[in-house]
Amino acid sequence: MAVKNTQPISQELVLAALRTVQDPELHKDLVSLNMIRDLKIDGDLVSFIIVLTTPACPLRDTIEQEARQAVTALPGVGVVDIKVDANVPTDGRLSAMLNIPVRNSIAIASGKGGVGKSTVAVNLAVALAQSGARVGLLDADIYGPNVPTMMGLSSPPTLHNKRMVPPERYGVKVISIGFLVPPGQPLIWRGPMLHSVIRQFIGDVEWGELDYLVIDLPPGTGDAQLSLSQSLPLSGGVIVTLPQQVSIDDARRGLEMFRSLDVPVLGVVENMSYLELPDGSRMDIFGTGGGKRLAEESGVPFIGAIPMDPSVPESGDKGNPIIISHPDSVAAQAMLAMAKDIAAKVSVAAYKE
Ligand SMILES: Nc1ncnc2c1ncn2[C@@H]1O[C@H](COP(=O)(O)OP(=O)(O)OP(=O)(O)O)[C@@H](O)[C@H]1O
Ligand SMILES: [Mg+2]
Repeated sequence: MAVKNTQPISQELVLAALRTVQDPELHKDLVSLNMIRDLKIDGDLVSFIIVLTTPACPLRDTIEQEARQAVTALPGVGVVDIKVDANVPTDGRLSAMLNIPVRNSIAIASGKGGVGKSTVAVNLAVALAQSGARVGLLDADIYGPNVPTMMGLSSPPTLHNKRMVPPERYGVKVISIGFLVPPGQPLIWRGPMLHSVIRQFIGDVEWGELDYLVIDLPPGTGDAQLSLSQSLPLSGGVIVTLPQQVSIDDARRGLEMFRSLDVPVLGVVENMSYLELPDGSRMDIFGTGGGKRLAEESGVPFIGAIPMDPSVPESGDKGNPIIISHPDSVAAQAMLAMAKDIAAKVSVAAYKE
C-alpha cells in the first residue's frame, strides 16, 4: 500500500523542500531570501512564484529547475507550476540620499579614453532593459557625449513641470548633454558648472522608477567622477580596459579612484580582447590577458572579455547597439553575459548591506 502518497502535501513540507535550494550567488536558500511567493496547493498541484533579485539573473533556469526538482520529489506532488518574477533590491544609500526612485546606479569607467566605455554602457543598459528591468542611461561624458548617437536618439528631452523628461529608445531612458548643445561645439566646463550639470542630470530629470541607472563616465579620473560620486551614492563601478599594459595602468587608476570614493568595484571588463579571423583562429591585437591580471592583482572579479568586431563601431554609429543589430555575434553574446553578471553582482552587493 502506498501509504506515503496518501499523506497530504502541506505548505510546510513544500517550504522545507525549497529550503534545500540555494541561490548560488547569494548563498542562502530561496525561503530565507523571501523569494517564494503565492504558494498554493490544490490536490497534487503545487504552484508558486520565485521572485529573483534581477530579471537579468544568469542562474534563472538553474534556480527554477532545482526548485522544481525539490518539490517534485515530495510524496504526493503531481504537477509543479512555477512562475519566475523579479524584484530588484534597492541600494539603501541611494534612496536615503536622493529623493528619486532609482534602485541602483552602475558607473562605467576606464581611466583611458577610447577603450569602449560608452559601447559597454549602452549595451549594458539595453541588455538590462531587454531582460525586463527599468533602466536609465546617464551620459556623464560632458566633454564628448557619444551616447545619443550610439542610441540613435537626437530629439532633446521635453519639459514637464520644469523637469526634463528623457527620450527613450530600446526601453532605456537617456539623458546626455549631447541633446542640449549643437553637435561639434566644443564643451568647456569649469568645475562648479560641471558639478551643477551632473547634479541636474540626476535631480532634475523625470527618471521615474528605475531598477538600474547606468552611467557612462568620461575618460580619466577627474572632476566628473568626483562630481558624480558626490551627487549620488554609486552602487558599483565597472572598469573597462583593453588587454594591453598602458590601458591596464590607466584602468588601475580608475579602479583606485572608485575605491578612494568608497564605490564598490563590481569588476573588470576586458574589451577588444581579440579578433576572430575567418579561419576561426584568434589574433590578440592589444596583447592578451591584461584584464584578468588587473582583476586578480586588485582583488576584484573579472567580469569577462568582449572580442573585437567590426559590427560594433558600425552599429554604434547607426544607433543600433550590437546586441540589437547582431544579437547572435560573439561580441553581442559576450555583452549579454556581461550584463547578467553585472546585474547579479549588484544584487549581491545590495544584499550585503
Ligand atoms: N568590441 C569592440 N570591437 C570593435 N570596436 C569597438 C569595440 N568596442 C568599442 N569599439 C569602438 O571603439 C571606439 C571607442 O569606443 P567607445 O566610444 O565606446 O569608447 P570610450 O571608452 O567610451 O571612449 P571615450 O573615452 O572617448 O569616451 C568606438 O569607435 C567603438 O565603436
Ligand atoms: Mg565614451
